[in-house]
Amino acid sequence: MKEAQGKTIYLKDYLPPSYVIDETHLIFKLFEDKTLVRSRLLMRRNPAVGQQGLAELVLNGRDLELEKVILDGEVLDSQHYTVSDDTLVIPTVPDSFILECETTIKPQENTSLEGLYKSRVMFCTQCEAEGFRKITYYLDRPDVLSIFTTRIEADKTLYPVLLSNGNNLASGDLEDGRHFVTWEDPFRKASYLFALVAGKLKSVEDSYITCSGRKIQLQIFVEEKDLDKCDFAITSLKKAMKWDEDVYGREYDLDIFMIVAVDDFNMGAMENKGLNIFNSSCVLANPDTSTDQAFQRIEAIVAHEYFHNWSGNRVTCRDWFQLSLKEGFTVYRDSEFSADMGSRAVKRIEDVSFLRTVQFAEDNGPMAHSVRPESYMEISNFYTVTVYEKGAEVVRMQANLLGPEKFRQATDLYFQRFDGMAVTTEDFVQVMEEVSGLDLVQFRRWYSQAGTPRLDVSGKYDSQLNTFSLTISQSCLPTPSQAVKDPFYIPLRMALLDPQGKPISLCLELNEKESGDNDVSDELVLHFSEAEQTFVFKNVIEQPVPVLSRGFSAPVKLHYPYARDELMLLIQHEQDGFARWEASQQLALQILDELLLLHQQGKALAVDERITAAYASVLEAAVSDSSLDKAMLSNLLLLPSEAYLAELAEEVDVDGIHFVREFLRRHLAAELETKLLTVYEDCRNTVPYLFSAEEIARRSLQNTVLNYLACLDKPECWELIEKQFKTANNMTDSSAAIRALVNNPSEQSKALRDELIAGFYETWQHENLVVDQWFSMQSAVSAPDNLGQIVSLMEHPAFDIRNPNKVRSVIGAFCHNNAVGFHQLDGSGYDFLADQVITLNTLNPQIASRLLTPLTRWKKFSTQRQEIMKAALNRIKETPDLSRDVFEVVSKSLQ
Ligand code: BES
Ligand code: ZN
Repeated sequence: MKEAQGKTIYLKDYLPPSYVIDETHLIFKLFEDKTLVRSRLLMRRNPAVGQQGLAELVLNGRDLELEKVILDGEVLDSQHYTVSDDTLVIPTVPDSFILECETTIKPQENTSLEGLYKSRVMFCTQCEAEGFRKITYYLDRPDVLSIFTTRIEADKTLYPVLLSNGNNLASGDLEDGRHFVTWEDPFRKASYLFALVAGKLKSVEDSYITCSGRKIQLQIFVEEKDLDKCDFAITSLKKAMKWDEDVYGREYDLDIFMIVAVDDFNMGAMENKGLNIFNSSCVLANPDTSTDQAFQRIEAIVAHEYFHNWSGNRVTCRDWFQLSLKEGFTVYRDSEFSADMGSRAVKRIEDVSFLRTVQFAEDNGPMAHSVRPESYMEISNFYTVTVYEKGAEVVRMQANLLGPEKFRQATDLYFQRFDGMAVTTEDFVQVMEEVSGLDLVQFRRWYSQAGTPRLDVSGKYDSQLNTFSLTISQSCLPTPSQAVKDPFYIPLRMALLDPQGKPISLCLELNEKESGDNDVSDELVLHFSEAEQTFVFKNVIEQPVPVLSRGFSAPVKLHYPYARDELMLLIQHEQDGFARWEASQQLALQILDELLLLHQQGKALAVDERITAAYASVLEAAVSDSSLDKAMLSNLLLLPSEAYLAELAEEVDVDGIHFVREFLRRHLAAELETKLLTVYEDCRNTVPYLFSAEEIARRSLQNTVLNYLACLDKPECWELIEKQFKTANNMTDSSAAIRALVNNPSEQSKALRDELIAGFYETWQHENLVVDQWFSMQSAVSAPDNLGQIVSLMEHPAFDIRNPNKVRSVIGAFCHNNAVGFHQLDGSGYDFLADQVITLNTLNPQIASRLLTPLTRWKKFSTQRQEIMKAALNRIKETPDLSRDVFEVVSKSLQ
């Protein structure tokens, strides 16, 4: 193990920088074999640190060839500095000085897609979190804020467009067919927000008038072939700009906002100041090539990156342990934006499903960490669902606790007080406290303690006293380096329904220990903060059914022993969309559990037909009441995913889960065939494609129903599917048709399936992003024998292991969505993944390390599987030259 590889960075060791950089002047000379970077840094000692002895100057740098160092105009000879693998150290510097460095880098050879690299025909950068150090020597940390100017020189024919942050200052021609452009960003920023783009790009332009009347130029830069896929992102951007003005009072600050689409990108998108860089899959769309889901994702990501201009760029993070300060808050902001643009309840359902499936699993695995982690080896490994999605839940709880008015006052104060600064999550919470007068001392544990709290709730009705008591206890399993947890403060937005499904007026008996908002209404928030508490409701004249977490008011696992008829009542009558959906999930979970037990005992499977009745009533309502939200109905018809069932299981019975879930799906389809057909016909229509909440909802219900019909294995159903595929006027419907076939394989439909898959490729082979969809619809199939298919897709000419989107749509889709295939008992799935991780370890460590996740969950499986999974992990660990990214994940998961 190399020393650098295993080095851990701790939050407790944070020290402010010894030097600051007032100005950063960069010159890039781009060539086909290399790039020359010249920096001129105006630096001085950090006055906030004081003159504590001799402070050597330590600059970060990686994979750089240092040509020259100039201090205050004098070329330093090599005795006056030392260069290591990741630093340039100058032992003595004056209090204030100008440092110039010349370095050579090789963007063409940079496959890590971090720093300056080439994506097909264009140069681009990705600097967050620590990529800037691969461009030049620098204080590459988020608490060093500087004014940047950037001059780019390149061949004018190959790279007519040269972009960087801020405003265009100057441009002109140079010798040898070259030209230059100079940019200046007037806002101080951290190096991770630096960006540069050079290429033969075309742009779509628009403008936006801000609330104070300023006109902002908006531009999306793409390759010419993609000009027909920019309109949606521009519209989304304008909606996001308006929303941030209306909801947070935040106006855009520069005069120009640019987005660039690149094909090779590790993440979804990046919020570089004034110059966002997007994975093309997260910005390009039109109805022919993109599904509703893709549109919704683009709308959310464009908004997310735009929102960072305030929550991230103007107010940034002191250090990377504070990452959730910008990411958790911004995910909360973008999810509220999406809720306002579409169906609020459905957005909540989607977010909660994702959190419970993926984040709860992370909390349960070897990489579990708190929202504000205490330590890391490689920061790239901490762009996690915990920092993002749980972080967003933690902000959401604060927003709910404060209420809309106080929360807005608090965010106003936060943005005003910390504008131009690099701060901490503690600063954020303090502002919430200051504005509201609330005491958030215990609440802060959500930032410092890892793990998902588990709540066990029991209810007791006393018909003599007319009281209903809820006794709640909380616990939280140990996580790495946190054996014992203190109780969390848990807000539960709850209600009690009477036997007719009507909410009853709540009257809580208060004593010193138990508290809750006590004005009489039919909903209240229980403030649950101890290991165990009992809440007593008075004047309850009949046995009630409790609704415990409307809107999923806290990110916890709730256990309440609902009787099935109680769940039926909630499904029918509960007014909160999330809670109604949750009741139907609970019903399905109970029934799937029961089926799994029968299956494991080798008994015949018998379905409790109450679930059939519940689904029947959803289907009936879909036809009889056109005012209902069809997206909601569509969600009510979805069984919990295999991944969620696995997360809930003590030990995952991979094959059993797949078997009983498929069994129940087929059973429901068979029992409800006529109703499904009626809803399908009712939803079908051939009007031109429209991206509106209502139309998205209609297509969603139509395609959910189609997927049920596909598992009936009937020629009439194949015909429906074929017809939908052939007559579809949008990608949502045509891809749903293929997916229905692919996800419900049968001998009878094989010929049709092969025909449609081949035809789809034939039609779309020139659309890179559609080819990704084509890969993933075949790779994500839940089937035990799909590995051969994966291997042959990787040999397809359109596959490229250097392109993260291709890796995700083939390898990632297989390992994440096909548990029965990935977990084959012969270990073939594990070996396959280990091979891919080893290949990617050298090419692209960030992607390698992310891909590895499914193997790290070995503790959840049978001892037989555990052994083979660990063998695969050990094989990775033994690989020479393991990147820090992969090393951290394998070593922690083998501990
Ligand atoms: N700042 C991140 C992008 C990023 C993360 C770059 C990690 C480099 C390393 C950006 O704001 C982000 O969070 N993007 C998300 C999408 C978003 C909608 C949650 C992404 O890229 O997945
Ligand atoms: Zn972000």
